[in-house]
Amino acid sequence: MSREHDQILILDFGSQFTQLIARRIREERVYCEIHPPTRSLEWIREWSPSGIILSGGPSSVYGEDVPTTDAALLRADIPVLGICYGMQLIAHLEGGKVHHGRREYGRAELTVERDEGLFAGFEQGVETTVWCSHGDHVDDPPPGYRRVASTSSLPMAAFRAVDREIWGVQFHPEVAHTRRGDEVLSNFLFEICGCRPTWTAGAFIEDTVARIRERVGDGTTICGLSGGVDSAVAAVLVHRAIGDRLTCIFVDHGLLRMHEREQVERMFRTHMGMTLVVEDAADLFITRLHGITEPEQKRKVIGNTFIEVFEATARREETGARFLVQGTLYPDVIESVSTGGPSVTIKTHHNVGGLPEEIPFELIEPLRELFKDEVRQVGRELGLSEEFVGRHPFPGPGLAIRILGDVTPERLRVLRGADAIYLEEIRESGLYDEIWQAFAVLLPVRSVGVMGDERTYENVLALRAVTSRDGMTADWYPFPPEVLARISTRIINEVSGVNRVTYDVSSKPPATIEWE
Ligand code: XMP
Repeated sequence: MSREHDQILILDFGSQFTQLIARRIREERVYCEIHPPTRSLEWIREWSPSGIILSGGPSSVYGEDVPTTDAALLRADIPVLGICYGMQLIAHLEGGKVHHGRREYGRAELTVERDEGLFAGFEQGVETTVWCSHGDHVDDPPPGYRRVASTSSLPMAAFRAVDREIWGVQFHPEVAHTRRGDEVLSNFLFEICGCRPTWTAGAFIEDTVARIRERVGDGTTICGLSGGVDSAVAAVLVHRAIGDRLTCIFVDHGLLRMHEREQVERMFRTHMGMTLVVEDAADLFITRLHGITEPEQKRKVIGNTFIEVFEATARREETGARFLVQGTLYPDVIESVSTGGPSVTIKTHHNVGGLPEEIPFELIEPLRELFKDEVRQVGRELGLSEEFVGRHPFPGPGLAIRILGDVTPERLRVLRGADAIYLEEIRESGLYDEIWQAFAVLLPVRSVGVMGDERTYENVLALRAVTSRDGMTADWYPFPPEVLARISTRIINEVSGVNRVTYDVSSKPPATIEWE
């Protein structure tokens, strides 16, 4: 990252909120990165942060083999803010006393002692709501530190070193429930660290385009477009840098939504003037999927076939490309402290464009440092339409994992038709942007119905719509009943082969968003 921007280093002690800290800082237009606490002081000096945040975490400073950091960091003349475990760690390293074992979750009222530093602008003595989640807390500050805020149950809710910019807070300023958390963080960034708010989508684009140009030189690159926002934004950035020395490949696996392929062609070829190769591989995918009903098996077949087709297309086009562009995002690359054991594979995710480890290309991943909302912002700035940038996520394996059981051309027709009506009605009702993701699922069951005095025995369809922040947890969306009624009537009347529509009212967990 170019040093034209001030930057903040976040050392991650395993808190579930670490990414939230990073997002809040980026929202203040300051660049930051999350790193493991094992980074050496030498590395940190080289990286040259304007300030360091020690995140929270599930450990206790008195535990064995708990994550820690070099105590010299607190004497390195770099401002430090410790949050929750981060504060306890500062206390522990500097000779204070940490009280082990009294759990405190939820809201508390914070009283600030002085209108200064981290709490500049907070009137002395006024209470403000903060949110806590901790087992341990600091009892006595280390020598040379003093209290700056308290709550009724926590006399040492915040402290500071008297002669250095080392601060600790026991509460979480990064969560939305801490009412003035943004002010606390912005005071750290601007009052204490002296950062300048220069990290904007425009600045990112300028920096990135220059770096891509330098790296690619007069070489050529290819990019796999998936139809999603990430690969699109990555491709447009690279296109801006090197123009038609970029060739985009879009593999149509025949498992797309209605008109999706045409939309991609219109957007990239017509509007953006990019070189786009569309490879129609629908027949191959359908043949390979024949008789495969087990969800994981389906995902594997699709993933492997995708890679095969993509590579063959790239070879045939003879672009001579040395580089491959991918839309990898920051949450996928953060090297965090793992707090649990090895996690169970719930579903194998294939990002279309996800390639095996051994590939004959060097990777260009221009979005590696961005969060999803920042990617959307960059997309807007690059001139992608709001409609495209605000799209709901769509899984790489496409409609195949929304057809439970065998995937056949006939079942794809039914699902595609129903899905198009569903989304059209959601858009018409003005609800699209309130919903994280909405889609129809074709079930492997038939039910009895009656249409025009005739008995029918046809497919059952489930509708799913969820709200979510990041896809990790989700809740079902409470549609107004009249909207559901309209959707159901239209689907049953207009899509032959469906005589019953149901609505999925499960949250994640325990369900997942997709059905397979
Ligand atoms: P689940 O079903 O695991 O989905 O709750 C969470 C989010 O991930 C999307 N998803 C995928 N995205 N390739 C993708 O690119 C996949 O294989 C895949 N499977 C699920 C899902 O649509 C939701 O947004």
